[in-house]
Amino acid sequence: MTTSSSAPGPRATTGPADDAPGGAPRDSVPGAVGATGATLRRGPLRVGERVQLTDPRGRLHTITLAADATFHTHKGYFRHDELIGGPEGSVVTSSGGVAYLALRPLLSDYVLSMPRGAAVVYPKDAGQIVAMADIYPGARVIEAGVGSGALTMSLLRAVGDHGYLHSIERREDFAAIARANVETFFGGPHPAWNLSIGDLSDVMPQVEGPGQVDRVVLDMLAPWENIDAVAHALAPGGVLVAYVATTTQLSRLAEDLRDDGRFTEPQAWESMVRGWHLEGLAVRPEHRMIGHTGFLLTTRRMADGVPAPERRRRPAKGAYPEHEWTPDDLGERPVSDKKIRRVRRDLGAVPPQGGDTTPPAAT
Ligand SMILES: C[S@@+](CC[C@H](N)C(=O)[O-])C[C@H]1O[C@@H](n2cnc3c(N)ncnc32)[C@H](O)[C@@H]1O
Repeated sequence: MTTSSSAPGPRATTGPADDAPGGAPRDSVPGAVGATGATLRRGPLRVGERVQLTDPRGRLHTITLAADATFHTHKGYFRHDELIGGPEGSVVTSSGGVAYLALRPLLSDYVLSMPRGAAVVYPKDAGQIVAMADIYPGARVIEAGVGSGALTMSLLRAVGDHGYLHSIERREDFAAIARANVETFFGGPHPAWNLSIGDLSDVMPQVEGPGQVDRVVLDMLAPWENIDAVAHALAPGGVLVAYVATTTQLSRLAEDLRDDGRFTEPQAWESMVRGWHLEGLAVRPEHRMIGHTGFLLTTRRMADGVPAPERRRRPAKGAYPEHEWTPDDLGERPVSDKKIRRVRRDLGAVPPQGGDTTPPAAT
């Protein structure tokens, strides 16, 4: 395992939260130095900043501003100096007459355009994770795996400069990509971030004492392999949120959490976001949407020695089959012989009157 940190991650209680009452948010004062780069995200555009250009067809280009540099396309060029020192929301016109709108990329823009090793958690799911796992400023959070670092950035935004996020990734190459993405976005190392290379179940017990962690966020193939490590690290009432891509993973995780007995009844859901086309009277859903990303599951750590309450509702009949699955187990309503005969009659596929209805044996 290797662990590196930009700065020691302070505990939740060691510093004021970003929204601490009685004080202005750290980065609200124009000109103040913001540890997570808030000041870099305001004011005139500067050398070294990433800027997103949108052309008249809505196509995006991302450039890093540099003195004396030139942006070239097949529709002409313009000099970066025309943007440097100007406000966001400026429009610059290329030598070929194409107008480009210049804005700093939002986190959601950045995540969708940054280099990827592993598949990223999309902004719609990152928002759900932050909200439903209740990731708050100052929280002590563990995340694994890190992949490309997309979710990491939302978690860092939520815990704030005085929170603590320890991200654990078993692949050294993915961790390097994630670090580069995160540090590019924040303009340098984030004060609340630690990144370790190794397996969650090996690393977490070494870096966290029992019951010290407020939230655990898992995005990996087999989260159920880490239930014991998570139960060890989470404080009573602490939240586990897991993101999985398939129903089979979701089911395995839920059942293993129930069997473990140290967690509350798991809750699962997915979110679908449908964009809308807005043009005059043509206001309608977009024809295309992202139909599936993943499923989310949350559960909370019981106090030590307190068994999870029994569910009041008994599981549906057949939900836990002892034998081979039947259509009934899967919730299929049996179809009566009468109905089958009616459908066959309607289709003209009438069985011979009074005769044998079984099909002839194949020859
Ligand atoms: C889909 S990616 C995570 C993507 C990431 N959440 C993002 O938004 O960019 C899954 C990652 O989990 C890592 N992983 C899988 N099992 C792990 C474990 N037990 N401990 C640490 N990392 C693990 C994989 O190497 C992979 O990089």
